[in-house]
Amino acid sequence: MNDVVIARAPAKINLALSVGPTRPDGFHALATVYQALSLEDGVEVRASDDRVVRLVGDGVDIAGVPLDETNLAWRAAALLAQHAGLEVGFDITITKRIPVAGGLAGGSADAAAALVACDHLWGLGLPLQNLLELAARLGSDVPFAVLGGTGLGTGRGEEVAQLDASPLWWVVLPAAGGLSTPAVFAEFDKMVPDPPMPYVAPMLFDAVARGDATGLALLLDNDLQQVALALRPDLADAIRRGVGAGALRGLVSGSGPTTIFLCAGQAEAEQVARTLGGIVAHSVEYGARVVES
Ligand code: C5P
Repeated sequence: MNDVVIARAPAKINLALSVGPTRPDGFHALATVYQALSLEDGVEVRASDDRVVRLVGDGVDIAGVPLDETNLAWRAAALLAQHAGLEVGFDITITKRIPVAGGLAGGSADAAAALVACDHLWGLGLPLQNLLELAARLGSDVPFAVLGGTGLGTGRGEEVAQLDASPLWWVVLPAAGGLSTPAVFAEFDKMVPDPPMPYVAPMLFDAVARGDATGLALLLDNDLQQVALALRPDLADAIRRGVGAGALRGLVSGSGPTTIFLCAGQAEAEQVARTLGGIVAHSVEYGARVVES
């Protein structure tokens, strides 16, 4: 058994986010294409007699992130301990680089990193399928945060099939103040009372597999964008500025308010990031993983 384990997990964006009807369990049926980015949170877990979560903001405002048992990384560690029949403490330090409440699934990344870190720390070696089942209990996009790469999410987003993908370059533009995901979905229900079943155009899979940024730019789609723009009209201006700076396309990430900009390549992304003051990121093939033990 190790004394300390460090894991990392990437932010996610949605290349497509099609929101369908509300299901009997209250969640919306989704069809979404997730992509993991090179922007990552770190999670360090140590053995401890107590249960503690600490936070370090690395260029990110961490106000509002809970430090108690409602923190998603805490819940992940507690759920894994319970699943394994262990009565253990843990001391978790989260280094946040993913903007909080930004539509980038930062909390889910922390949960996924905590799952793989504790699995390692406690010498469990759970099969991936078990980790994914626990991940789904923590949140709809936690299974994708475990798997990473690029994936098609169905169900409420928790059923993930991995997709072929070639590298893509993005600029991530954080926006001040978060948006609450439940509030955005509730507003979606008001704006779109009777949505059709969710659907992702197969052409998008081809463009992602080929890394065809120009073709993909025409296919990016987010049903929650109209809601985020209604709640935050300033985001429309951010999107216009990004496209004006040379991005192929700009859109709201997930439930917002972060906006993301697809670029033709690294040089173009660096140019757009300089103009907007955003973060250059590229797609990655991995998800949550142990980086040091
Ligand atoms: O699954 P997760 O806990 O991340 O979801 C947060 C909230 O987002 C849910 O409580 C719900 O309000 C909304 N949501 C939804 N349909 C989904 C996923 C999330 O309505 N498929």
